[in-house]
Amino acid sequence: MLPLLPVLLLGFGLVGERRAAVLRLGLRGSPRGEVSPAFLSLTLDASLARDPRYVALLSNPKLRALATALSPGFLRFGGTETDFLIFDPNKASTLEEKILWELQAQQEACGLRPAFAPVQKLLLAQWPSQEKLIVAEHNWKKHKNTTITGNTLDILYSFANCSGFHLVFGLNALLRKAGLQWDSSNARALLDYCSSQRYNISWELGNEPNSFRKKSGIYVDGFQLGQDFIHLRQLLSNYTLYQHAKLYGPDVGQPRKHTQRLLRSFLKSGGKVIDSVTWHHYYVNGRKATREDFLSPEVLDTFATAVHKVLEIVGGTMPGKKVWLGETSSAYGGGAPRLSNTYIAGFMWLDKLGLSARQGIDVVMRQVFFGAGTYHLVDANFEPLPDYWLSLLYKKLVGTKVLQVSLVGADERKLRVYLHCTNPLHPKYREGDVTLFALNLYNVTQHLQLPNYLRSKHVDQYLLLPHGKENILSRSIELNGRVLQMVDDKTLPELIKKPLGPGSTLGLPAFSYGFYVIKNAKAIACI
Ligand SMILES: *[C@@H]1O[C@H](CO)[C@@H](O)[C@H](O)[C@H]1NC(C)=O
Ligand SMILES: *[C@@H]1O[C@H](CO)[C@@H](O)[C@H](O)[C@H]1NC(C)=O
Ligand SMILES: *[C@@H]1O[C@H](CO)[C@@H](O)[C@H](O)[C@H]1NC(C)=O
Ligand SMILES: *[C@@H]1O[C@H](CO)[C@@H](O)[C@H](O)[C@H]1NC(C)=O
Ligand SMILES: *[C@@H]1O[C@H](CO)[C@@H](O)[C@H](O)[C@H]1NC(C)=O
Repeated sequence: MLPLLPVLLLGFGLVGERRAAVLRLGLRGSPRGEVSPAFLSLTLDASLARDPRYVALLSNPKLRALATALSPGFLRFGGTETDFLIFDPNKASTLEEKILWELQAQQEACGLRPAFAPVQKLLLAQWPSQEKLIVAEHNWKKHKNTTITGNTLDILYSFANCSGFHLVFGLNALLRKAGLQWDSSNARALLDYCSSQRYNISWELGNEPNSFRKKSGIYVDGFQLGQDFIHLRQLLSNYTLYQHAKLYGPDVGQPRKHTQRLLRSFLKSGGKVIDSVTWHHYYVNGRKATREDFLSPEVLDTFATAVHKVLEIVGGTMPGKKVWLGETSSAYGGGAPRLSNTYIAGFMWLDKLGLSARQGIDVVMRQVFFGAGTYHLVDANFEPLPDYWLSLLYKKLVGTKVLQVSLVGADERKLRVYLHCTNPLHPKYREGDVTLFALNLYNVTQHLQLPNYLRSKHVDQYLLLPHGKENILSRSIELNGRVLQMVDDKTLPELIKKPLGPGSTLGLPAFSYGFYVIKNAKAIACI
């Protein structure tokens, strides 16, 4: 792409006629922070169980292969529907459920599911109308209870466990005694069942309690919710299998004033029994979001402000407690059509991953891996979307240690850069290597240049660009010029790097993002 230029010119930060921004990399000291090995985690929305038959789609082998490639991580099953799911261990199976149960029973744990195809075909044919219903119900804010059975839990657990994920299950917090204290009897029945199956699960209680009143007419304050979590902790400690189980919460929404108050009083009342504090974040409303929102540095920066607020509250009440994004995506209400499922969504996603790690968020759970709406990583035809491939590259290349990085010569809000130690599990890279990732929100190509002391290093480029004439609104993505797609239903493509010689500048076209592994960088923090 760019001609190799004389070292002298590069030394002044000039590339041809154009200036290159010079990177300042923090390779010398200790890391700025460290995130969980499960940092990039996934969710399934509990609305998938709105009609529990559809949970059976999770047995699809291609979906499992796609999930496995993103492991390890947490798989959170939750969402608005969490507080409307009722477990019934004795419910007589409907015909479909019976068929599914038999199919399931035929299989070895984590085995293949050859006999499954006909049922799956039928479900898939009906899924588009089910999807519409889920999104419509969500938008009407009318909620109905749904009964789930052991069968639903079996398929869910098997999906998580067999794909290398640890299941986090949200229990219904809106079952209440005379509208006040939490009624744990249904949770007890569910725990009895999961414990009898020896399912290793972590738990949550309720989803976005800040809007319980809107969803159900029941108001639960932070103090009471804290007491309910203490109750759940006591209940868990009655099971040998769940004595040391992890409990996360309270899964509040954005830190608006009322939600901040709720979070603070919850933490004072019940903070001691939770293992991590969870909250949710979306940048925009899916029904109103525009293309400009997805490319706006101001919109991306609103996330940093929200993180800061949450960390301040946790720091003031439960200092030291880990903070997780328990559910997050670009746009709420199922995503923004033709935006949340295309290349352009990657700006919000990659920037959120970068900022979260930099500001000290330990885990980020992406809404959703598969399911209704447009913010999914894998669509209803089991096709991976651009954010899937972006997540995959992130998982493979980016390690848990966070390093300092800045740049000189460009607006850092429009040319956004993040630096981590390279994932030490990557077979091709070594200790001391670092991974830079960058987003160009300028409408022209930007060039990045390594500082002089790294001028002799080899760099592997993993540049992601949209594929096809829809440009940044494409659902198809190229890595270093090759379209990313599955080789077959079980095989993912090789992620082929483009080696850049020493002294190369890193060129990012207008509105694009990519990863760069700086080999042999000898970063002290990464050794
Ligand atoms: C769901 O079931 C619970 C327990 O039976 C009941 O208290 C609640 O009102 C029901 N909610 C809805 C939306 O029907
Ligand atoms: C969990 O996964 C492992 C393989 O990763 C498998 O051996 C085990 O049987 C699975 N457990 C359940 C309950 O499915
Ligand atoms: C359950 O899973 C967690 C996370 O993978 C693990 O640390 C823990 O040891 C497991 N517990 C049991 C009882 O197997
Ligand atoms: C735990 O078990 C004890 C003894 O069986 C019982 O008294 C207590 O109520 C149980 N706690 C919960 C929260 O279920
Ligand atoms: C790029 O954006 C600037 C404003 O920031 C505008 O003046 C210019 O016309 C745009 N260029 C292109 C190629 O769109």
